[in-house]
Amino acid sequence: MSRTLVKDALNAAAPMDAILLQGWVRTRRDAKAFSFIELNDGSCLKGIQIVADAALPDYAHITKANTGASLEVHGKLVESKGSGQKWEVVATGFTVIGEADATYPLQKKGHTMEFLREIAHLRPRSNLFGAVFRVRSRLAYAVHQFFQEKGFYYVHTPIVTASDAEGAGDMFRVTTLDLAHPPKTEDGAIDNAKDFFGKKTFLTVSGQLEAEIFACALSNVYTFGPTFRAENSHTSRHASEFWMIEPEVAFCDLNGDMDLAEEFVKYLIRDIRTHCPGDLEFFSKFVDKDLLTRLEFVLEKPFKRCSYTEAVEILAQSGKTWEHPVSWGDNLQSEHERYLTEEHFKCPVTVYNYPRAIKAFYMRQTDGCAEGRETVAAMDLLVPGIGEIIGGSQREERLDKLRAGMALHHLDEKNYWWYLDLRRFGTVPHAGFGLGFERMLMFVTGVGNIRDVIPFARTPGTAEF
Ligand code: 4AD
Ligand code: MG
Repeated sequence: MSRTLVKDALNAAAPMDAILLQGWVRTRRDAKAFSFIELNDGSCLKGIQIVADAALPDYAHITKANTGASLEVHGKLVESKGSGQKWEVVATGFTVIGEADATYPLQKKGHTMEFLREIAHLRPRSNLFGAVFRVRSRLAYAVHQFFQEKGFYYVHTPIVTASDAEGAGDMFRVTTLDLAHPPKTEDGAIDNAKDFFGKKTFLTVSGQLEAEIFACALSNVYTFGPTFRAENSHTSRHASEFWMIEPEVAFCDLNGDMDLAEEFVKYLIRDIRTHCPGDLEFFSKFVDKDLLTRLEFVLEKPFKRCSYTEAVEILAQSGKTWEHPVSWGDNLQSEHERYLTEEHFKCPVTVYNYPRAIKAFYMRQTDGCAEGRETVAAMDLLVPGIGEIIGGSQREERLDKLRAGMALHHLDEKNYWWYLDLRRFGTVPHAGFGLGFERMLMFVTGVGNIRDVIPFARTPGTAEF
């Protein structure tokens, strides 16, 4: 007999004479003539009630079916007389597959998020994390669906790389050199030519540069993979390993890029609302009371757009005292981003045309800027509760201007010869962006810490599991 998932049992259209369920015991309550077990198998938020009659042949074993134990149940699916559920299962037989004693850490009581992080191997069995990771799975599917429906090709960009895609230097080194006795050159420096790949290599911070290669061949492409940042950021929104989605579009400018970003974010929200209603309802009850109204609101209206220069003026006129006062040329800090989206515009806002000096070397210089106020065609999408979830730009497609940008950022052209070649042979205007997958998950679930939307968080000082 094949297994029925709890989700399908709960959605059954009619009673069933014989059903097989397998899962983990959430709770057990023993009465005189019966035991009631709530069985959960992760297929959905809810568990199903199992009623075990004391007259069952193996009933003595029921005391082994403690919270956390795995259980196999044969029975009948019948209409439930109890409130709160349509169906329950009257057991005809059961087997405790794996016992769990009283030391099982997920006993039915409230746990702090900090404690649950320490038991990341068990937390997917809790209501909250079951819901988070079901939504995570669906969101990944929706990402592919969005781009595949639009005719974008999925490109696998390398994880080990020799180039710094952001030119920011916060990369993890990949090496097989013996760190205690590294090979040396004649002048005593470490001889990187003797390393595994014959040069210094790192974990990628972004697949963008390689995605640009493919956009300049297949026109519309996207990447979706893990990226790594060795920045020592201790915030609720930064992880050292996170997943990023990076579309790259040939023959596209910054406006087209901002349109695509907005359409994409709305599509993802709509998809999760359609396919994960039970989990979203749970988040809105227990995590973030305003979640559903906020998601609804985000879908309804066009996002606001505002240039960096306008944003700086808004911040100056806000009457707020900032921890980091901001004047033209400064990076926007989290407090500024959140003010713009949460208090000023009260909706998602795309800030565009940032000062050239604070942005990456590959971004396209805006023509006709005032002296001392050079900008690039960059954009950041800011959302309430989080701040930046998307960063993107139109790329500099003009060879001379790109070389000037690299010089400005002190990058060695030798390391980017192939990137420069794209501008030498059949160059085209093109643009793209990166969506932080975990930040998007925080947005759709209301979960406030990035460590709680990724199965096994890597942050400075932490790499357990
Ligand atoms: O703004 P970022 O650094 O942009 C890029 O990497 C570009 N190459 C993207 C592109 O144009 N193809 O990162 C993009 C997004 C951010 O908006 C943020 O959502 C997320 O990636 N992100 C992080 N998420 C979690 N932890 C971190 N440390 C992150 N750094 C960036
Ligand atoms: Mg950014």
